[in-house]
Amino acid sequence: MTADVCVLAYSGGLDTSVAIRWLHETKGYDIIALAVDVGQGDDLEAVRSKALRIGAVDSVVVDARDEFAERYIARVLKANALYEGKYPVVSSLSRPLIASHLVRVARAFGAGAVGHGCTGKGNDQVRVEVSVRALAPDLTIEAPIREHAMSRTESQAYAEAHGIPVPTTTLSPYSVDQNLWGRACECGVLEDPWQTPPKDAYAYTRDPGSVLDPPRDVVVTFTEGVPSAIDGRPVTVAEAIVALNEVGGGFGFGRIDMIENRLVGIKSREVYEAPGALALITAHRDLEDLVLDRHTHHYKARLEAEYATLVYNGLWFTPLRRALDAFIDETQRQVCGDVRLTFGPGSCHASGRRSAFSLYDESLATYTGYDTFRHDAAEGFVKIWGMPAEVWAQKSRAAGGAADPVLAVEGSGATWDE
Ligand code: ARG
Repeated sequence: MTADVCVLAYSGGLDTSVAIRWLHETKGYDIIALAVDVGQGDDLEAVRSKALRIGAVDSVVVDARDEFAERYIARVLKANALYEGKYPVVSSLSRPLIASHLVRVARAFGAGAVGHGCTGKGNDQVRVEVSVRALAPDLTIEAPIREHAMSRTESQAYAEAHGIPVPTTTLSPYSVDQNLWGRACECGVLEDPWQTPPKDAYAYTRDPGSVLDPPRDVVVTFTEGVPSAIDGRPVTVAEAIVALNEVGGGFGFGRIDMIENRLVGIKSREVYEAPGALALITAHRDLEDLVLDRHTHHYKARLEAEYATLVYNGLWFTPLRRALDAFIDETQRQVCGDVRLTFGPGSCHASGRRSAFSLYDESLATYTGYDTFRHDAAEGFVKIWGMPAEVWAQKSRAAGGAADPVLAVEGSGATWDE
């Protein structure tokens, strides 16, 4: 093992570019830059050569888009994972994947360290480091941005002093992280939670106010909980997301403006765009409404929130996540069928669903004469179901204590304590 080689997760941005030089100069590492393609849409060949120009001894690009889609996104989709009910864990999900590639490349090159460009007040440092420690506890982890706590202006000055190219196009006023599953944007004017996000905070979605197109239907087919066709055309999971990012984004659907609780204890204001993710979760949930039995469905809903929080909190490589996945996978065996999504300006909803495993029985649900529902059985059911409430009311009225109903329900002779 070469203790003085460090594999650095490299994005091509200012912070990690500065990190290449800084880790070399202050800690003597030879840096191997690693750019992981998770569908962020950057020119990673340019990123690769930029790392070499800045002084990395080697530079590696990994196309992990399908791996990300099939082994990570498919799982959070099956779990309908939305952190705090809103955020489809976009950045949270790519970090364990990136960490696993850091470890893989470190092993391939015999490196003794891995590094990342996360700051000290975000969630990403937790996700990367917890993942690396779960996979390879012997590796040293370097976090130069956290350790040196350079401000943006200091980073720029360092870059200029060391001849590190900083194209002005990359100097956005925001901190942006994007991948196949969505885009996260923070900092700048967004730090004031009252400020409406400016137009330039968005990139995956059109302004919903400017959409003039008529509504559009898209049929998503699911096989065991994951998308397998769009409008009848077979797709990979990654292709389904790309297609729905495009349609949804074109309708200005998928914007999330939220205040969230970070694991590190602060509240932050985040602006996300996740048209494909939210469209797929909408469709997937709708299909589950049709095919999951009530008890499994209600039980799963409770685990979904836990699942999202676990992913958000960086606990991907843990036995709990595997155990939850085992449960969720079991529930997905019959989540097969079609959902028709209707897109309009800024909106997406399910307008139709069908499945060979549908539990919807028209002869039970209908209000027409073809009804097979046992109306006579309902009478006894309602009586037994309501018995605890009825007994409680009788007994408490008789006892006349604190629980004595006092509020008259008008005209009924009954009382209720509000
Ligand atoms: N707050 C989000 C999360 O913790 C987004 C993080 C985005 N990262 C970034 N470098 N801008 O998942």
